[in-house]
Amino acid sequence: MHARRQGVCRGSGIHAAGKIELVAIADSTWTPASWRARLALQQPEWPDPVLVEAVRHRLGQLPPLVFAGEARALLRALGEAAEGRGFLLQAGDCAESFREVSAVTIRERLKLLLQMSAVLTYGATLPVVKVGRIAGQFTKPRSSPLERVGDVELPSFRGHAVHSDEPTLEARVPDPERMLQAYYQSVSTLNLLRAFTKGGFADLTQVHTWNQEFVASSLEGRRYETIANEIGRALRFMQAIGIDLGDERSIHEVDLWTSHEALLLDYEEPLVRKDSTTGQWYACSAHFLWAGERTRQLDGAHIEFLSGVRNPVGVKLGPTATPEEVVGLAERLNPDRVPGRLTLVTRLGADHVRELLPPLLRASTESGVPVLWVCDPMHANGFVTPSGHKTRRLPDVLREIEGFFAAHREVGTWPGGVHLEITGENVTECLGGSEEVFEDQLDHRYETLCDPRLNVRQSLDLAFRVAELMRGS
Ligand code: PEP
Ligand code: CO
Repeated sequence: MHARRQGVCRGSGIHAAGKIELVAIADSTWTPASWRARLALQQPEWPDPVLVEAVRHRLGQLPPLVFAGEARALLRALGEAAEGRGFLLQAGDCAESFREVSAVTIRERLKLLLQMSAVLTYGATLPVVKVGRIAGQFTKPRSSPLERVGDVELPSFRGHAVHSDEPTLEARVPDPERMLQAYYQSVSTLNLLRAFTKGGFADLTQVHTWNQEFVASSLEGRRYETIANEIGRALRFMQAIGIDLGDERSIHEVDLWTSHEALLLDYEEPLVRKDSTTGQWYACSAHFLWAGERTRQLDGAHIEFLSGVRNPVGVKLGPTATPEEVVGLAERLNPDRVPGRLTLVTRLGADHVRELLPPLLRASTESGVPVLWVCDPMHANGFVTPSGHKTRRLPDVLREIEGFFAAHREVGTWPGGVHLEITGENVTECLGGSEEVFEDQLDHRYETLCDPRLNVRQSLDLAFRVAELMRGS
């Protein structure tokens, strides 16, 4: 794929030894477009630059999806989590689909997030910050520029904001108009989420009833009966001391924040807006944006872009991440040392997390830059079955989370959250779980556009297991 570099904005000098030295640019040079002077990996090769320009112009005129004040509220909530007084649940699709915009699929995704969050809140006895990979997660970085679908070799699928997933050469040609469609689908998804979360659907007593149904519906689910019963008792206790659950805002409304990978910079740039109350720049395509494992280079375009917006931001860290990179990212993205500004999402693999994570945690602690540490137990535990399905085993996912908690316990840092790929449907994409999905069943409902997601039952299994971990069992 195309790597873009336009102009040069890094100063370069010649060392005495004759080596080129890169000189960091000062913050004051940041603009929504300053990423263009850097190497931008994983960008589509748009066939028609004039059309791209027209779409960018149009996006620049459309209203922001989120308001800067909301991003600041999320920053504060993540700041609490970074300091050990909260826990982040960030979850949703690997890649959202233009085909799935019905009220039912949005509702089912939200319902699952709320159910997981109720369990985790009880496990942690701390506020759970709920962030969806939703309303904007339409682009994908890919390790290989080509993929094989059946007998044909095609340009790899890069998300519905770029092209169609249909397996033909024609369909895989990047189409900039799709960025507008991504915008409008994000708008309608977010609109419904706002209605559901403030309009009564998120009522905790209702969420608790759903969880009791899950617990009662299988022998394995009964393992979690104690936790579920205790939540029920806590609700009855509140009623008994005179709290009117029907009247209490915190019982029937929740804050749900949106997030996606800030990958497609032609889309992100025009949605950056200057907040009229503070004069600061905010990315207004979502509350929270992150840079992926493949685009987190310290001198690259994506980190440049994230460095200048005031939203809370994240960076994924894979097994090759070094302590020096962690410190570099922390200083670059959080020079003012604001708790909640920077979330580092480790995805190191179930077999390696115990060995690889502690040095990263120690380096960040020594740097003094506050970081919210979050575990993505999905992206380093994938494999392809002989039948050709990309999958993950729930036991591996849980093992990485356990290793994450153990590493934090060892170093004395706070395991601040989980970042997951889940869906509100009963798909068969990942293996294992209390209603076990076996390898020969993957075919039944394998629907993901990209990576395999945990289904409803597997996601709830995970939430109950993490709740146990947080209570030290
Ligand atoms: C993802 O979150 O879907 C993803 C591609 O992750 P990573 O950048 O960690 O590989
Ligand atoms: Co993914």
